[in-house]
Amino acid sequence: MEYVSLADTGLRVSRIGLGTWQFSDAWGVKNYDTAKKLIEKAVEMGINLFDTAMVYGNGLSEEFLGRALHEIGVKREEIVIATKIPGDYLNPWDIFRSVRRSLKRLQTNYIDILQLHWPPCWHNFPTCKYMRGLERLVKLGLVNHIGVSNYPVRLIDEVRGCLSTIDIVSMQYRYNIIERQAEEELIPYAEENDLIFLAWSPLAKGAVTGKYSLENISSFNDLRRTDPVFHPENFRKISPVISKLVELAEKYGKTPAQIALNWIIMYSDNVIPIPGAKKPEHVVQNAESVGWRMNIHDWLELEKLTRNINILYSVYY
Ligand SMILES: NC(=O)c1ccc[n+]([C@@H]2O[C@H](COP(=O)([O-])OP(=O)(O)OC[C@H]3O[C@@H](n4cnc5c(N)ncnc54)[C@H](OP(=O)(O)O)[C@@H]3O)[C@@H](O)[C@H]2O)c1
Repeated sequence: MEYVSLADTGLRVSRIGLGTWQFSDAWGVKNYDTAKKLIEKAVEMGINLFDTAMVYGNGLSEEFLGRALHEIGVKREEIVIATKIPGDYLNPWDIFRSVRRSLKRLQTNYIDILQLHWPPCWHNFPTCKYMRGLERLVKLGLVNHIGVSNYPVRLIDEVRGCLSTIDIVSMQYRYNIIERQAEEELIPYAEENDLIFLAWSPLAKGAVTGKYSLENISSFNDLRRTDPVFHPENFRKISPVISKLVELAEKYGKTPAQIALNWIIMYSDNVIPIPGAKKPEHVVQNAESVGWRMNIHDWLELEKLTRNINILYSVYY
């Protein structure tokens, strides 16, 4: 496993993480033993970065993660737990209450990275007021670092301007080979400011794994039933990319998913994909998508093929 060290933070994270939104109704992994096997496999493969959130499965994801890490007996200081607080809780009262509950579910006395899941767009909580609350959590030792997720860059600047003794360490957004919007402002911002960029849905929710085609995308019984990427209007556009990923997978003796993840890490040293998985063999494959690099000519070919893909999100209504 490759690792990335973050200057001045003491953080050392694997070049790829494990996303755990899967432990929820949205994705359907609600059996603890299955979740434990996935986490166990991730630890075995050297993955030390685990992404979760208070809202995933209404706490189920944090609960499974905390319980499994505890039972596996991994040393606390060797893993990095990145959870998220939703925008709705970003007021001085909910911040403390929700973090206390989160710590209990995670069976730990500190969170490595507490990410702001999304801005408090419906509640209009003033930025500096909630950031002071979060800084207080760091001073109390309940949280080691703060990160943002789904925040536009101007609001990140505002967030950082409110902090007096610490800075944020990470940014998290959707980023995959067919949804590359983050390249415009977000990844450059992460690079300029020495922040890690956690890429969510790095496999486009499985769309680029080569398992799905126009023939079988209507059979989902999870959140993908209404995901725009799997709408035929969009899926048709990505079919040539899938064919290319399959072709390169054969060339390198890898899987299409591994090619898609390898492409992401080659885009920027700051980008760390956090794929979710439902099967231990997927965790192994995803872990093995780092530690090597495809030929730059193949990377460029994929770049050219995906540059102008325009996924439309207004497909259902
Ligand atoms: N900050 C945010 O707002 C936000 C939003 C979304 C996600 N996230 C985080 O990002 C993580 C990952 O995103 P995601 O779960 O939406 O999508 P993803 O990682 O792009 O796709 C995950 C799905 O792809 C399939 N898969 C995974 N590895 C595979 C492999 N090696 N080969 C074949 N299929 C494979 C599995 O589904 P099947 O086997 O059923 O196809 C899996 O459930 C989440 O778990 C969560 O932690 C954060």
